[in-house]
Amino acid sequence: MHILVTGGAGFIGSHVVRHFLKSYPGYRVTNLDSLTYAGNLENLRDIESMPNYRFVKGDITDAGFLDSLFAAESFDGVIHLAAESHVDRSITEPTAFVKTNVLGTVNLLNAAKTGWKGNFEGKRFYHISTDEVYGTLGREGMFTEETPYDPHSPYSASKASSDHFVRAYFDTYGLPVVISNCSNNYGACQFPEKLIPLFINNIRLGKPLPVYGKGENVRDWLWVVDHARAIDVIYHRAKAGETYNIGGHNEWTNIDLIRLLCTIMDRKLGREPGESAKLITYVTDRAGHDLRYAIDSSKLQRELGWVPSITFEQGLEETVGWYLSNREWLENVTSGSYMRYYEEMYGGR
Ligand code: NAD
Ligand code: TYD
Repeated sequence: MHILVTGGAGFIGSHVVRHFLKSYPGYRVTNLDSLTYAGNLENLRDIESMPNYRFVKGDITDAGFLDSLFAAESFDGVIHLAAESHVDRSITEPTAFVKTNVLGTVNLLNAAKTGWKGNFEGKRFYHISTDEVYGTLGREGMFTEETPYDPHSPYSASKASSDHFVRAYFDTYGLPVVISNCSNNYGACQFPEKLIPLFINNIRLGKPLPVYGKGENVRDWLWVVDHARAIDVIYHRAKAGETYNIGGHNEWTNIDLIRLLCTIMDRKLGREPGESAKLITYVTDRAGHDLRYAIDSSKLQRELGWVPSITFEQGLEETVGWYLSNREWLENVTSGSYMRYYEEMYGGR
């Protein structure tokens, strides 16, 4: 089995690459990544010398490059994670999201369709998507696989569009696709522009914690390793054309989550209880900020038997521990161009 993973140098992709290499020593994994600010080969240091792993630097917006890669290699499957993934960046730079998330996905679909020469026996094109395509919930209810798409941010609009193209290639060409829509991930190696690693880093440095609006928005958090385990079962066992929601039934308002994080950080850093929470600073709300996401993953649990392996409290404890013992990783990714972006985005807040 030879699998092409796109975006394998990013946060979730690096966990997926590691999970497949360790769980299936007989598989070959090719990691294709263009190494944007979010792609970091440091995330893969522990597995990069495995004989069945290969890294290829390349851009999914380059159709010619993808066609030659598929002509040169015989991939049995694709797990497509490469994307622009940060909502705040999509608000300031929407075109980059259309290029990578929409055009890049269509290029990859074309390369697979052509490269596999219409013979899809034993093949699989697995597209990794997000719960954000469903839009926002009120205080009640959960997203199911039947919830109509209603994206609000340029990020979620681009992911929704790519999902539609993936389904269209199943309906039109019979390409054996599967899609999963997952809730917010957290864990080691997440770029510190997303809530949890950004706030861990700011607490460590004694910098303000910019809470958007009143901190009342709700997200449903899943440990990234459990997402990788779900991707494994879906890759191997889902029927072509199927969609699965992935989530841990784990809803938190931002402010409750931030307070829990502050408590863990106080303890781990030997600070007085309540010290880190003093850094909480309420700032202007994100434009178009979705109020609540909540995933109903009962189809995945019922049909494929997947359940999360740890609680949020255990996962957050583990995650904070990872960032505190990998300060060099944090310092490397928060220097240089990221710092300029950080200044622009948060204006020193
Ligand atoms: P990330 O931003 O950490 O990583 C994205 C990776 O894609 C990076 O390594 C980057 O270099 C690469 N990439 C970007 N543009 C590329 C291009 N044009 N060509 C090749 N490579 C390119 O993102 P992530 O959080 O790991 O998310 C991975 C996937 O999972 C995305 O498709 C995202 O929409 C989806 N997802 C993320 C979450 C989450 O909470 N992070 C939740 C659900 C779904
Ligand atoms: P984020 O990690 O960007 O994920 P997403 O927007 O894809 O859900 O944000 C998670 C939540 O935290 C979201 O409601 C926005 C909020 N947030 C803040 O309050 N402050 C911040 O600095 C960031 C990055 C996010």
